[in-house]
Formats: sequence, C-alpha cells, structure tokens
Amino acid sequence: MQRTLMMPTLLRRSLLSRSMLFAFAATFAFAPHLRSLAQQPEAQPPLYLGTAWYPEQWPEARWDADLKLMEDAHVRFVRIGEFAWSRIEPSEGKYDLDWLDHAVRAAEKHHIAVVLGTPSAAPPAWLTTKYPETLRVMEDGRRDEHGNRQQFDWADPKYRVLARAVAEQMAKRFGHDPNVIGWQIDNEYANESESPIAKKQFQDWVHQRYGTLDNLNTRWTTSYWSETYSDWSQIPIETTYGNPGLLLSWRRFVSDTWRSYQKNQLDVIRANADKRQFITTNMMGFFDAYDHYTVSQDLDLASWDDYVGTGQLDPVRNGAAHDLTRGFLRKNFWVMETQPGFVNWSPDNNALNKGAVRAMAWHDIGHGADAVSYWQWRSALNGQEEYHGTLVGADGTPVPLYAEVAQVGKEFAKAGPALKGTSVHSEVAILHSYDSRWAINWQRHNKAFDPVANLVTYYGALRAQAHSVDIVSPTAPLSQYKLVVAPALNVITPETAKNLLDYVRHGGHLVFGQRSAMKNEDNGLQPERQPGPFAALLGGRVEQFYALDKPVPVTGEFGSEATTVWAEQLSTTDPATKVLMRYGKSNGWLDGQPAVITHDVGKGSITYIGAALDGETLNSAVRWMLTKSEVKPEFGALPEGVDLYVRDNGDHEVWILINFGEKGQQVALPGSFTDVLKGGETRSVSLGQYDVTILQRSLPAR
Ligand code: GAL
Repeated sequence: MQRTLMMPTLLRRSLLSRSMLFAFAATFAFAPHLRSLAQQPEAQPPLYLGTAWYPEQWPEARWDADLKLMEDAHVRFVRIGEFAWSRIEPSEGKYDLDWLDHAVRAAEKHHIAVVLGTPSAAPPAWLTTKYPETLRVMEDGRRDEHGNRQQFDWADPKYRVLARAVAEQMAKRFGHDPNVIGWQIDNEYANESESPIAKKQFQDWVHQRYGTLDNLNTRWTTSYWSETYSDWSQIPIETTYGNPGLLLSWRRFVSDTWRSYQKNQLDVIRANADKRQFITTNMMGFFDAYDHYTVSQDLDLASWDDYVGTGQLDPVRNGAAHDLTRGFLRKNFWVMETQPGFVNWSPDNNALNKGAVRAMAWHDIGHGADAVSYWQWRSALNGQEEYHGTLVGADGTPVPLYAEVAQVGKEFAKAGPALKGTSVHSEVAILHSYDSRWAINWQRHNKAFDPVANLVTYYGALRAQAHSVDIVSPTAPLSQYKLVVAPALNVITPETAKNLLDYVRHGGHLVFGQRSAMKNEDNGLQPERQPGPFAALLGGRVEQFYALDKPVPVTGEFGSEATTVWAEQLSTTDPATKVLMRYGKSNGWLDGQPAVITHDVGKGSITYIGAALDGETLNSAVRWMLTKSEVKPEFGALPEGVDLYVRDNGDHEVWILINFGEKGQQVALPGSFTDVLKGGETRSVSLGQYDVTILQRSLPAR
C-alpha cells in the first residue's frame, strides 16, 4: 500500500471528537496489536448487494451523492475501474491512481466495499496507436480499431506486458487496502484473434500436444481430403467448418490462451495483494467461446453476468446457468452483473415486470450466489449504452426500480445471518462438457438439436422433482452423487471414460442422453459403436442415429410420446439389459426398436436414452431415475410456478420459495419453519406472483 499514513477504517467512518482522536493515536503508539485490529476490514456481509459504478465518468464532487444513494439502498460493494485504463494510465508508464484511491475512500465512508476491475478490456487510444500489433485480427482478416472495447489481441506478448503493468500498479496500490475486497480481471473474455502471432502460438500448441506430425495426421485422419501436414507451419485456423480435430484443437488453444492471458494479471495481483482479496472474472453463463473449466481453475471465485435480454426470466434456463457457474469451482459464486430492469442490446429491451427483479435476486441466492450486483448505477451521459437500465437516471435521482432494489438490499441484510456459510448440496448431477457442445454444434446433423436446450430439458425435469441439481464437468469428482445424468455427452476423453466407469462400478447410477460417447478426445469417431467405452457395461449399443423430419412414437415404461428431432435405434447385447421404451411405427428402421435401455452393474446402473423425451415421459423417466438411485427429496411436487431452493451449513437449512407464476399459490410445509423476513414460526406459505419467502429450520445433529 503506497499511502504512508493509512487512517484506520473505524476512524474514517465516524466523526470523532479531537480528544477521542488523541486517545486513539495514543493507543496506536503504545499498543501495536490493537493497531492491527483497528485496521481489519469491516466484517463482510454474508450477502452482498452491489452495483457497477464508474467514478471516472463523473466529477468527484458528485461521488458522495451517488454513494449516499447507494448506501440508502443497502448497496455493500461497488465494482469499479474495469474500463478506466485511459484514466489510470493517461500516457505510457504514467499512472494516476489517486482518483481511484479517492473513490475507494469515498465508498468506504458509506460502508461500501470495492471490487477492483483491471482495465484490460478497454485499452487506451495511445496504446493501440503506438502498438497497432496489439489490436486483434478478426475472422475476415481485418485488424480491429479503436472506438469500442475488447479490440485487443489476447495472444499478443506486448499487450500482455502492458496489461500486466497496469494490473501491477493497481495491486501495489490497493493490494492491502482494507476496503478492497476483491479483483475482477478484465471483463467478459470473448473475442479471440487470428493474428499471425496467435496462429504461430496455435501451431506451437498443437506441436506440443501431438508431439509428431505422424501422430497428428493419424489422430485427425488427415488423409481425408489431402489434409496431411508435413510441417507445423501449415496448420491453419478454422473455426466453423474444418477438420473436427483441428476445430477442437483451436477451441482448446483459445481456452488455454485465455487462461494464460488471465494468469499474466492474476499472478501479479496475487504477488501484491492480501489473501483475503479474492480474484475472479465475470463470465457469461452458457457462452461457449472457451472452456470455462479451464479458465476458472486459477480463480478464487466464479462469477457471471446474468442478463435476461428480451422477455421475462425463465427460472429453469436461468437456474441452469447459475448451477453451471456454481459448478466451475464447485462452490458459491457471485452474480457480478445483472440487469436493473432492462438492457439495451437485445432486439426488444422490455423491462422485467414489477417485482421480478427482486424475485430474480433471490433466485440467484437460492442457486448459491453470495452477491448480486446491478449493471449499472447510472448511464454515462454519452457512450454506447445510454439506453441501458440503471438505478438512477440521467439527472442523478432514483428511477422507479431503485426502491425494489433497495428492498432487496434490506432483505439481504436481514437474511444474511441465516444464509451465512450455507451452500447448495445436491444428490443429482448433470454433466456438461464444452468439447461435446462444440462438437455437436459444428455437426448438428439436425439444426434443431441444440445441446444447451437439450441439457436444460433434462435439468428442468430433474430440478422439478429433486429440487437441487449440480452441473459439473465430466471429470469432476462424482462419488457424492447418487444419480449422474449426461445429456449429449458426445466427446469422451480417456479421463472422462475412467471417471464415469469408476462411478458406475462403485455403485453410481449413470444415465446417458442422446448422442453420448460417439466421439473421442480428438473429435474423431470412437472406433466402437456408441456409447464407445461404455457399450460393454451397458450391454447394448446404438445401431444407428436418425435426424427426424417427423415425430416418431415412442412407448413403454415412461408412457407414450411423439418424439422429435433425433432418434437412436438401440440394441441389447446382454440378456440382462432391459428395454424400457420402444419406437412405434415410423421410418421403418426404427419401428419396434429399443429407444431406452438399462443395465444394472452391481449396486449401480447404466442407462441409455436414445429418444428425445420431453413433457410427461421425461417426468416419468426422471421419477424412475430418482427411485432407482434412491434420491428421496423431502418435499414433493410444488404448486405450478413455485420454485424451491435449499442451502444449508450443516447446522440449519434455509429454504427460499419464489412464485414465478401468475397465480397465487399456497404451499404447505413439511414441518415448522422460522420465517426469516417476517419473523415467527410457520407451517404454510402463501405466495402471490413474484413473492419470496425465506424460511429457516435447524438440522438434526449429524
Ligand atoms: C455486459 C458488460 C457490461 C455492460 C453490460 C450491459 O456484458 O460486461 O460492461 O456492457 O453487458 O448489459
């Protein structure tokens, strides 16, 4: 910390009399242990309400008024700095951090902590003019220009030197600042570059991974279409329609390059910052330009930017994105940005209905978020996002939504103690893999087969009955789960195969959805028929897949349905493998053939679902899966529109009930709970549209 005299937080906060100040100073001089106590950061609230604030866009004289309004709304942190490079380093090597320090101090006066963003998503004009090679090269071969953001080349060494230098200056200045609680590196990694330097790094990456050209040529089957390479420098960049091994390698290289881009800043922050300051970056839900498991592994905390865009919140799809983010580090996460009502970038930027912003905030918490932060506090008077929703208007006074967000802040403060130290615990996991999503999206075969929609269909049905689902990588530890469902797990690496086979052999129940285990780690076909390394254990296989142009009937154990989009004709090779569903009359090939098969393996089982189940048949399949794996949710079906989220800390559990439906609903509880917001004990809850109830009860000693 560069400030020579650091006033303790306690002092700065209250107006102390001169005599008290002297007494305090004397205490400092003679009791060094007390001094360090006094410098401790303020106790962190268990739940944080926050907002993105851009002090560099406003005169300093205005800051206090904004912070006062934030404090009144119970805002407990601001994220600042992430686009302020031209203010922080107005010319090369000349840093101005005093204004940022003033902003951190001004926030502190209002009990508002700070998350500092490193500004590398918005390089200044002097930089891109002086070092044009730091600008990214777009897919059409043109260099990007100044005037927007994210125009940098993430692979460029000079850019990394400059980005690291500014992060280092910030970390040296604020790494021990009691009011800085964490760091966000960059902002929403997204744009890669196809510059000559990126291409050379890609070729080196491929060389490193494959060792010899013979190995690469074999694994990518480059004899196909004369793709054979005789020199590493011949390897091109393909992003949409190239050799499947080449496409997958580029995406993995992109992911590794974002990781090293991030590490370049992360290391210099870590070297200069207190451990209590977390380091994160704000991701984007199901966005798939890089593998988020790869990039998250160096972070302390996962966070994401949760936007609805057009329409109203879909709690299922949005919940899946939360659970996906929770799965990156398999712990609680932050919502680093969310919309204050509406955005400016979707085709129709309608507002969320009155009450929906509050319901959405609690939905975030229910899924394991510990912070919800609104983007943004106030629109810059000029700039690309003038129409975006905010909490105060152009005149600096609250917009109508401010009161709703203030209510959220008040409730966070009230419910914080109950939620402190709690997290989500699930007995059911869904496997999610970027390799598989990319592989299917490059070769959809039926344009209607959307791997995310496919995952969300399973997720919605499982969540409705199990009330809690984790979404994790196929290489994550699985022994804690009674049931693991893998929708469209198309690419199977040797590590994944081992993890899943071990899981089943140790008594786990594994269910594959369509298109699973077709590809190998190079995005080539598995040499065995689907599901490749699992076929023996399943005692069955996929005889043929069919993209459907018409619905196909499917009937059996789970009821009857007209299935669409995709159908896999299954067969059994082991008499112990049971057929649970069969196709009806359709294209001739599928008529009467198995659509769902299952095989017990010791105490566990492996099941393959070859039909696109939806609606009641999927609900019934889920019921079957939960019964078989002995997942027994304590609570049965919820009234339509009502969602339940449970977090616990081993001592007590917190239930969050939200009604997203239009109809008022009554929920009878399985016992007596404390109503955290209203106080008192209750055994039933009545919920109008967007109503939220937070309940608490003790857990029996384990
Ligand atoms: C995010 C971005 C913010 C802001 C916001 C608007 O993607 O991180 O800086 O642009 O969108 O919705």
